[in-house]
Amino acid sequence: MAGHDVGHRLTIVVGVTGGIAAYKAVAVVRAFVLAGHDVHVVATDAALRFVGKPTFEAISRNVVETDLYEGVAQVRHVAIGQAADLIVIVPATANTIAGLAAGLAGDLLGTTVLASAAPVVIAPAMHTEMWSNPATVANVATLRSRGMTIVGPAVGRLTGSDSGAGRLAEPEEIVAAALAVLRPRDLEGRRVLVTAGGTREALDPVRFVGNRSSGRQGLAIAAAAAARGAAVTLIGANLEVTAPASMTVRHVVSTLELEAAVTDAAPGSDLVIMAAAVADYRPETIAESKIKKETQGDRLTVELVRNPDILAGLAASRRPGQVVVGFAAETEPDDERLLALGREKIARKGSDFLVVNRVGWNEGFATESNTVLVLDAAGDIVMEASGSKESVADRLLDLLA
Ligand code: C5P
Repeated sequence: MAGHDVGHRLTIVVGVTGGIAAYKAVAVVRAFVLAGHDVHVVATDAALRFVGKPTFEAISRNVVETDLYEGVAQVRHVAIGQAADLIVIVPATANTIAGLAAGLAGDLLGTTVLASAAPVVIAPAMHTEMWSNPATVANVATLRSRGMTIVGPAVGRLTGSDSGAGRLAEPEEIVAAALAVLRPRDLEGRRVLVTAGGTREALDPVRFVGNRSSGRQGLAIAAAAAARGAAVTLIGANLEVTAPASMTVRHVVSTLELEAAVTDAAPGSDLVIMAAAVADYRPETIAESKIKKETQGDRLTVELVRNPDILAGLAASRRPGQVVVGFAAETEPDDERLLALGREKIARKGSDFLVVNRVGWNEGFATESNTVLVLDAAGDIVMEASGSKESVADRLLDLLA
């Protein structure tokens, strides 16, 4: 087993069985590969009548396994299952579910599941009548009682003109649920407050001074904390991404609104993560109506005043046991000087940890990936991480949990 940290490369077996939804398994395989995992597709013969082997081989970048009687010398019927960190069956037909419940070993997917100690995630897809048939209901209950995770099915359009329960869960939902199975529940019972996004300071009713933060990194942290069992409150400042239902969300626009929301929520939190990009200054006055060039002429001067430093205030007033984490987004190109800036900042802010990352025209903001280093209160580097914002979030929570 390659360990249970989803921030690391996992060996994932994707079992594909013979339903029309097999074409959506391609998207699931693709998402696992893009997240950096080693994916092995085990397809039944019926599955390959819906989607060709070359498709799965190209997308998974591995040989597709089907035949129980190939590679017998490597004892593959058990080797694949033994090497797996996770098995995801997508789609799982009523027939496959029945076979799994009975412990059948008549094909390579059956032997793989039986020979494996890895968690098994099943995404059923079938017609409503088959899903609600007592035989299927009993089989699904059996699989659940053995610790397997069932994702979906959703209620919606089916293959024909009909709708109902039985539609395969969306590929993103299957991927998220599968990776969540491997997440430690090490934040169970903890209350976590995360700020994300970037504040906007109004100039007039239609204009603002803002920054390019999308809220992706903060949201990834909030989502990962929720998946690890925490009760999460997210304070979102102008998020460009949608928060999942697993957390309580409060939307704010300006720094003063963010401050009020944080001041309200922080006392009830065990861990506060200030990932939002907060404006250091705001216009001293907000024009009542739109500022007009006709009255301003060729130059416009806007007087800005300092915003309160929310993080410094939080750190100064935190109660014993409460952990406060700040972020520092810097444009400094030199690594040594970036580190020095981080050390100065954590000393000034007084937080327990500071996550330092570089931002620029093409770095940090609004991108899918991030590179960070984390300093502790003494200014020592306690972690470095690079990768998707989701994997960076998980590494950070490994440290904080
Ligand atoms: O000083 P700087 O803006 O670089 O500090 C960044 C960190 O401080 C972030 O965690 C940000 O959320 C927080 N911050 C704050 N209040 C401000 C400015 C930044 O809490 N006025």
